[in-house]
Amino acid sequence: MKQYLKLDKWNIIEEDFQLHQHEISESIFSIGNGYMGQRANFEESYSGPSLQGSYMAGVYYPDKTRVGWWKNGYPEYFAKVLNSTNWIGIHIEIDGQPLDLATCTVKEFSRVLNMKEGTLSRSFTAELESGKEIRVEALRFVSMTRHEIGAIRYAVTPLNFSGTLTVTPYLDGDVQNKDSNYEEKFWVEVAKEFGENDALLTVKTKKLDFHLTSVMTFEISKNGEPVTFESEHIEKDKYVGFRAQVEAAQNEQIVIYKYVANVTSRDYGFGQLADAGRSALQSAVEAGFQELHKEQIQAWADKWRDSDIVIEGDVAAQQAIRFNIFQLNQTYSGEDDRLNIGPKGFTGEKYGGSTYWDTEAYCLPFYLSTADSAIARNLLIYRYKHLEKAKENARKLGFTKGALYPMVTMNGEECHNEWEITFEEIHRNGAIAYAVYNYVNYTGDLDYLGQYGLEVLAEIARFWEERVNYVPAKDQYVMLGVTGPNEYENNVNNNWYTNRIASWTMEYTLDVLDYLRENEPSRYAELVEKLHLTEEETAKWQEIIDKMYYPFDPERQVFLQQDGFLDKDLTPVKDLDPKHLPLNQNWSWDRILRSAYIKQADVLQGLFFLGDRYDLDTKKRNFDFYEPLTVHESSLSPCVHSIMACELGYREKAYEMYLRTSRLDLDNYNNDTEDGCHTTSMAGTWMSVVHGFGGLKVKDGALHLNPFNPGHWKSFSFKVMFRGSRLKVTVGEHDVLVTNESEVPADILVYGQDYTVGGMGNVKVAH
Ligand code: BGC
Repeated sequence: MKQYLKLDKWNIIEEDFQLHQHEISESIFSIGNGYMGQRANFEESYSGPSLQGSYMAGVYYPDKTRVGWWKNGYPEYFAKVLNSTNWIGIHIEIDGQPLDLATCTVKEFSRVLNMKEGTLSRSFTAELESGKEIRVEALRFVSMTRHEIGAIRYAVTPLNFSGTLTVTPYLDGDVQNKDSNYEEKFWVEVAKEFGENDALLTVKTKKLDFHLTSVMTFEISKNGEPVTFESEHIEKDKYVGFRAQVEAAQNEQIVIYKYVANVTSRDYGFGQLADAGRSALQSAVEAGFQELHKEQIQAWADKWRDSDIVIEGDVAAQQAIRFNIFQLNQTYSGEDDRLNIGPKGFTGEKYGGSTYWDTEAYCLPFYLSTADSAIARNLLIYRYKHLEKAKENARKLGFTKGALYPMVTMNGEECHNEWEITFEEIHRNGAIAYAVYNYVNYTGDLDYLGQYGLEVLAEIARFWEERVNYVPAKDQYVMLGVTGPNEYENNVNNNWYTNRIASWTMEYTLDVLDYLRENEPSRYAELVEKLHLTEEETAKWQEIIDKMYYPFDPERQVFLQQDGFLDKDLTPVKDLDPKHLPLNQNWSWDRILRSAYIKQADVLQGLFFLGDRYDLDTKKRNFDFYEPLTVHESSLSPCVHSIMACELGYREKAYEMYLRTSRLDLDNYNNDTEDGCHTTSMAGTWMSVVHGFGGLKVKDGALHLNPFNPGHWKSFSFKVMFRGSRLKVTVGEHDVLVTNESEVPADILVYGQDYTVGGMGNVKVAH
């Protein structure tokens, strides 16, 4: 563990500027509002190692695929969330010398991510080569209430001199994705305009024609009073700026306020962008920095009211869980059903910022429990809207019917470039079907099934129908050549999880059909017609369900990850010399694939999803068999193990696994945080607390809680929204207190006992 951040309940604090940690901090201190986000780059110029990154949700580039050997069916491109106009820039010069923290002496540095209020601040004293010292205090945020707006307050005080301060606020669209396949720049300039103290820059992508218009303005004040200043325009390709000079006396604070609106052609016609940007900017400037800041604090207070987790008696754990919740809330706000959650959110470029099964398998439960159900619903609608593309994707691969959702996507098209994942990791289809179940089960929104759900389910069921094959000698259906969630095995036959989630999808689809036939007969008839569903087809699904083959070891009584799993050397991870770990950095890919070591939950993922169908003994046997072989080299792994360990009563294991996920980025556990944070796995951490230690499940329309205190904390509490009510569950040393913070009564079960928690009422249960 490389802990360099200070422990604090509400803030992430870095003191002492260390060049080598800067890129890690740029990821950790990222800010966003669901619409846009950015790494914690400095406003002033910086010549040290840095990944300058500013991203607009949903604005991407189809970067032409780069592979050594082309295979038919490969996606033409890998979609990349686009590094976009750097709008935070304020270049500073003191008597002609630039302020650059990489070259000057930095004293009393602190960088603070205030998670309560949703702001990023920095303060430091810098001594320039000339010996001149200045104090800088910077505060910025991307507004949660006005999504297109970012605001910066940047204050400079000369400490040991009086002189000329040159300030250059700018917009720079000449940026590049770090991971561009062909070192290509993706943006070209469309327009730039200057007003008195405002400037506009419009850039567009070379492909797909996304337009981004950024409009900025700035003000300078001294001792709280606006100052007038001379400024000149600076124009370069894809760049607009102002160079303003102010005389600053020793100890006199000069404050620069910079406001920016970023609007894109996702929301406006090309011809409307300039006006839309200007009008958003104008209303922000009229409100002023203080007011925008106040709005920000209130918006975050509302988020925390619905999603906070409080851990008493362990500041590191408290800070970590809030960090995870904070990142999730600033990555996806749920108003726009065209958006989704990239594995790194707005904190980096790895994984292209596109949508993976992570959303359905890991993130959905967080949004289901901590926000209005419309938000989780939008995550499902996103996939509904991609159904036609998923059908096309299946056709491309040679299927005559059904839908195969992509492993990675921006617009519904597959854009993953590794063949074993693109063609084989088809279990993702199951997670998308499971999300429909999960959503409906949690919210009780049965209307969703007739409106959208069935179409997605039926097309996925059809895909599975065609993907399995019947083996007469066995009188069973098998599924060949897949990659399960454990990507440390490829091209295996009968991955238990994939077979299981496939037959489960067919089963659930048949249940939904029955439900609609009975409860919404006219919609049912419409859908049968629209989907050309036949009885022959549904009968076939039933046959596959009945005759699906599941690899099983009768001796150990465990499900087998795949047909050949027992032929492997089953030496547990604990007996490996630690120098081999992590395997993905020390072993050849070939050696990994032949080994029994498991990257992330696979059989256990199935037992986790379909937990109600398996008894504790079955779960225990499988956990005991697979967990010792698991290296958890995906950040998505420990959370599933932690939750299962809770259910099995393996409390120490549960806590150990929880620790591996909760401070993953804060302590740079995997040595890769500079690439960005593991945003989707943060939802897994949240699940470890709420579904793991809190034992939350929804069965038959009722909320079940089965909490225990992991013993390292005095108490912990979490919030859950459930069918109109908002509950706060506090798990103390001896009892569980469920407080209803809403007027809507909630029926719950605590340790299997029924309770009704009346509006604004509470229930206390001993444990
Ligand atoms: C995991 C996948 C996951 C992807 C993006 C990979 O390392 O194995 O399950 O979808 O990361 O988070």
